[in-house]
Amino acid sequence: MTEPTIENLLREGRTFPPPEDFAARATIPDEGVYQQAEDDWQGWWVSHAERLRWLRPWDTVLEWDAPHAKWFTGGQLNVSDNCLDRHVDEGHGDQVAYHWEGEDGSRRTLTYRDLLEETCRFANALKSLGVGKGDRVAIYLPMIPELPVAMLACARIGAIHSVVFAGFSAQSLVDRIDDADAQVVITADGAYRKGNVIPLKANADTAMADTHRVRTCVVVRRTGEDVVLRDERDHWYHDVVEGQSTECPPEPMHAEDVLYILYTSGTTGKPKGIVHTTGGYLTQVAATHRMVFDLKPDTDVYWCAADIGWVTGHSYIVYGPLANRTTSVLYEGAPDHPARDRFWSIVEDYGVTILYTAPTAIRTFMKWGPDLPGAHDLSSLRLLGSVGEPINPEAWVWYHQYIGGGRCPVVDTWWQTETGAIMISPLPGITTLKPGSAMRPLPGIKAVVVDQAGDPVPPGGGGYLTLQRPWPSMLRTIWGDDDRYVSTYWSRFGNEVYFAGDGAKLDDDGHVWLLGRVDDVMNVSGHRISTTEVESALVDHHAVAEAAVTGRSDAMTGQAIAAFVSLKGDRQGDEALAAELREHVANRIGKIARPANILFTDDLPKTRSGKIMRRLLRDIAEGRELGDVTTLANADIVSQIQARSTAAAASE
Ligand code: WT7
Repeated sequence: MTEPTIENLLREGRTFPPPEDFAARATIPDEGVYQQAEDDWQGWWVSHAERLRWLRPWDTVLEWDAPHAKWFTGGQLNVSDNCLDRHVDEGHGDQVAYHWEGEDGSRRTLTYRDLLEETCRFANALKSLGVGKGDRVAIYLPMIPELPVAMLACARIGAIHSVVFAGFSAQSLVDRIDDADAQVVITADGAYRKGNVIPLKANADTAMADTHRVRTCVVVRRTGEDVVLRDERDHWYHDVVEGQSTECPPEPMHAEDVLYILYTSGTTGKPKGIVHTTGGYLTQVAATHRMVFDLKPDTDVYWCAADIGWVTGHSYIVYGPLANRTTSVLYEGAPDHPARDRFWSIVEDYGVTILYTAPTAIRTFMKWGPDLPGAHDLSSLRLLGSVGEPINPEAWVWYHQYIGGGRCPVVDTWWQTETGAIMISPLPGITTLKPGSAMRPLPGIKAVVVDQAGDPVPPGGGGYLTLQRPWPSMLRTIWGDDDRYVSTYWSRFGNEVYFAGDGAKLDDDGHVWLLGRVDDVMNVSGHRISTTEVESALVDHHAVAEAAVTGRSDAMTGQAIAAFVSLKGDRQGDEALAAELREHVANRIGKIARPANILFTDDLPKTRSGKIMRRLLRDIAEGRELGDVTTLANADIVSQIQARSTAAAASE
């Protein structure tokens, strides 16, 4: 794949105005919202906060003590009350909240009333297990209804959840339990993935043996694996909810109380616990979900095909959609199980109208060919979304044509775990789309592309993406490490400017094109992985002396992980050891972090002060021309690496 530079992106000249019938019925039909929000951006967010049910009104909209923000202070509300009770109270108890489909074909339908009752039962169970306001609860579950139920039950009683993606390893779970001091773990016996079973409880057991903090563990039965339940500590979910009341009064929470922690990779080996709070977060996820997806709660069937283990699922499977009384599809498994048309069967069976997925998935569907979607009736679809990584124009156009039948707008949505909600995206009833561009900041958002010095670049220019005004769903801090919060995000250009870590360009019309990360963070299939984390996992193996990791372009996954490894003593690397190292990384972090290539080398290229030249390795991995390497302490090693890299590429 060619590098996504602005030059080749901008050769894409096609534009797609909103279809007339779509525009005529759009939730946000009028361009005036941009100006309205600009004239009074705090008032803009107030107008969205007012759509929620507050138990006590706020005193102050925003307290901004840069770089720390507090939104809607003095106000009280409960997130689960807004996502569930409010709709039942307004007469929508029988509306479906989730059409759940298991990978094995099992189905469950949960109405808003069902979801409320199940949430209350589990909230009462958690209380009876001694879980209270402010306690941290680690949730390590597959995509089953108990996952949103567990999150909502925590929100109901004021406990803070920390969802750990079920594809993460026991070690990753330990790190997250320890960092947040979580004393409660909610997991399942197993998780289905591509027909196999991941032994989640066994992983959790390994984790709980390693950290001694966990005093309560609740286990959902999903796959029927044999599990060991330890007396006192471990309980079946079905046992603890049995006999619990379906009523549980929602705990009044302050707008700034923590709703959840979600870990994400940064430039160091230690994942950051991103902290999201209650009032501002719910305001912005609900507002953006409604505007960007043009949501019609009475008629739409919405499907966000992400995993709730990532922020996309938190904001756009659970909180945003439920706050908006959406009927959603919740799918447990892989897109190719049992066959490669699984997604299109689901769209057809449930009459999905809005689909939100990632470019990697779209490129995979492209590879599988248009006949698979073509064999299904996808005429219910009216809007498509993309998230997680830059979408190349070719994939955008394919998505538009073969999935959207040429009639559905495609919204490319830029945001991050840290931003909590979508920040840059078209509004589908208003924006004339350019394939590959996230277009413009949403109303109320001030996104600015700046140069090295922090000065805004003019149309046609490129630089770093920044956010120059607080927003309601912004992260409040990094759990337990506020200094890192300040230094990572609010120091590069002063403490009023949020540094996103992404490169971006503006085209001649001033529209935004995202170019990928500018730091040591890789993006593999839309998942954020830090080079340092993978390096630490590699050097943790007994045979490894040193390791350097870099992301290289990959046509399917966006980036792929390339590792350069030098071994201890005289040991020579071979295929078997490479396989062992890849497995080792999978065990330490999770399968998503497994390097695509491992290249053994006698040494790594270093500067005279001993720093590994990662940029040089990146150039080698990309097959790029290298500049002057003579200033290196060990220049000769570069030719060895290049020779081996070329040989490896030739044998692929
Ligand atoms: C990073 C954030 C936001 C939910 C999924 C990922 C990249 C995200 C886009 C997009 C280009 C994108 C950025 C960002 N990214 N959306 N539409 N176009 N790049 O959340 O794991 O916090 O990763 O994903 O590089 O910084 P995340």
